[in-house]
Amino acid sequence: MRKKVIAANWKMNKNRGEAESYVNDFLPLLGDINAVDLEIIICPPFTCLNTLHVALQKSCVKTGAQNLFWETSGAFTGEISVPMLTDCGCSHVIVGHSERRHILDESDHNINRKVKSSLAGALIPILCVGETLQERQNDLARQVVKEQLEKALFEVDFTAGNLIVAYEPVWAIGTGINASPDDAQDMIAFIREQLAQSYNHELAAATPILYGGSVKASNMHDFILKADIDGALVGSASLDPREFSEIVRSVKNA
Ligand code: 13P
Repeated sequence: MRKKVIAANWKMNKNRGEAESYVNDFLPLLGDINAVDLEIIICPPFTCLNTLHVALQKSCVKTGAQNLFWETSGAFTGEISVPMLTDCGCSHVIVGHSERRHILDESDHNINRKVKSSLAGALIPILCVGETLQERQNDLARQVVKEQLEKALFEVDFTAGNLIVAYEPVWAIGTGINASPDDAQDMIAFIREQLAQSYNHELAAATPILYGGSVKASNMHDFILKADIDGALVGSASLDPREFSEIVRSVKNA
């Protein structure tokens, strides 16, 4: 059976002090939830990574980064490599988030390099895919997601549990308008089918696929009941420790 995964994407929010006080509030709210039940990952800005890792060390919560550069070291001003991230305690990294694709012009080719480099460095990529509103309205959602997946995973080898996919429709991110659980299930089943075709059924069945886009404590339950939805990548609702702990709990109790 696939493990459930709940990941927080803090985006460009919180400083080190705020990250520490978040952990102080969040961990007691987890109660008896442990790593056997589900995987919890928090992806803060780079500047909080080490602080968060140290604060979470005795807990089951893991840390992830929001981006990486594909070379390991050298003259790449402003970039952060996989060995630097693992040195800060990271186990996961978000790759190809729509804000990076659309605001920072991140290309499919570079996303592919990032996926390869994170896997080579034993960092688990959380690969984000998703269509814009216009693409959905033009009935292109499946085609867009298929192409993003194919390009990101071009010549990529991965094993069960080494890669997480997140379906995040762009129109649902930060808008308060989530995809319907049926539509999310539909697309996530389609993504699993694509993985089965490109790799094999066993690997597709063992790969966690998350939904992201306006997830909150009040709607998580409806998503997690769907057969192919293995958890969520949560933005703004993850910034509040109580709300995020309620999201985690609703996954555990499902
Ligand atoms: P929101 O949960 O704020 O819609 O953001 C989703 C997201 O982008 C997670 O990566």
